[in-house]
Amino acid sequence: MIPVNEPLLNGNEKRYLIECIESGWISSEGRFVSQFEEKFATLIGRKHAIAVCNGTAAIDVAIEALDIREGDEVIMPTFTIISCINQIVKNKAVPVLVDSDPITWNMNVSEIESKITEKTKAIMVVHIYGLPVDVNPVMKLAEKYNLKIIEDAAEVHGQTYNSQLCGGFGDISTFSFYPNKHITTGEGGMVLTDDDDFAESCKSLRNLCFQSDNRFVHERLGWNYRMTNLQAALGLAQLERLDEFVSRKRDMGKRYTELLSDIDCIQLPLEKTDYAENIYWVYGLILKDSIKINAKEFMTRLSEKGIGTRPFFYPMHKQPIFKKMRLFENDHHPVSENLYDRGFYLPSGMAISDNQIQQVCKAFKEVLKAS
Ligand SMILES: Cc1ncc(COP(=O)(O)O)c(C=O)c1O
Repeated sequence: MIPVNEPLLNGNEKRYLIECIESGWISSEGRFVSQFEEKFATLIGRKHAIAVCNGTAAIDVAIEALDIREGDEVIMPTFTIISCINQIVKNKAVPVLVDSDPITWNMNVSEIESKITEKTKAIMVVHIYGLPVDVNPVMKLAEKYNLKIIEDAAEVHGQTYNSQLCGGFGDISTFSFYPNKHITTGEGGMVLTDDDDFAESCKSLRNLCFQSDNRFVHERLGWNYRMTNLQAALGLAQLERLDEFVSRKRDMGKRYTELLSDIDCIQLPLEKTDYAENIYWVYGLILKDSIKINAKEFMTRLSEKGIGTRPFFYPMHKQPIFKKMRLFENDHHPVSENLYDRGFYLPSGMAISDNQIQQVCKAFKEVLKAS
């Protein structure tokens, strides 16, 4: 089986983990946590970085720190992971969904302005699958209407938008370090901001809102979302290799494109736009209508040949949980719906070899021929 993802952990990971074990610093108190936060903040060029236990937790903290409450509207893409919307809905705020661009698969920024109302409090941008959102028009809207930006950069460590690193654009920006990401801590996440008050709030929220002078007396409800020293040890070792990892992923993407570009009934990921070069968090593709089977069936047939794949996101407006809650009843976002029906991604992990890419493409062509 060629797995859909396999991380590379052959740098300083083991050495730093052994240091945690030998020193006994395994909780969130160890030195690697603050070092990882400092290095990450410096890399992205932000004043504060707050490490948390996963990327979903990072978004929860961001929503809470921005004080998004009942009735507030947040404009966001429908084509994303549930993590982006959880805390908005739990706080009884209103997610206002935007469809995807059919070429970049990111949120269609031209739809945003028409969705702004007096209740809009924030715009959430989510960079999807390796290409950044066209951020400049969104920043202009945020300025014009005095809105906050939440930037979910979970999938784009090391990616730039017009030469500035992603994770640098939000009032609050977030990352995930799940093992399929460009750098991993096993489970982990980061919140970034330049605002001192938001940073204090995020630090408190990740740590159950304990108070420094009166620890067990609480003025606010938070979570235990702390990152451990063990996770941060992995993160530091991975961060040392970010440039190498980004370049490996770009090579992987180019190799797939070379081997698949002779097939005209599939849409491949864009290699670049005028503001960014793809870093292929995952190598996704879309089956055009001339292929009679849908993505689900195609993935089953690839799996029978030993090839791991993953479906594209199921749009938020189609989620059964939100149907039950009677949300998004009048929403139709055909591009995102098509991305789900016809899209999936191929093995794209950091450890994938050229030989494996060739095997995947061979299997892909065999399935295509038999469909
Ligand atoms: C865009 C996006 N946001 C948030 C997350 C959530 O991150 P985590 O799995 O670390 O909770 C993911 C995870 O893949 C993601 O792709």
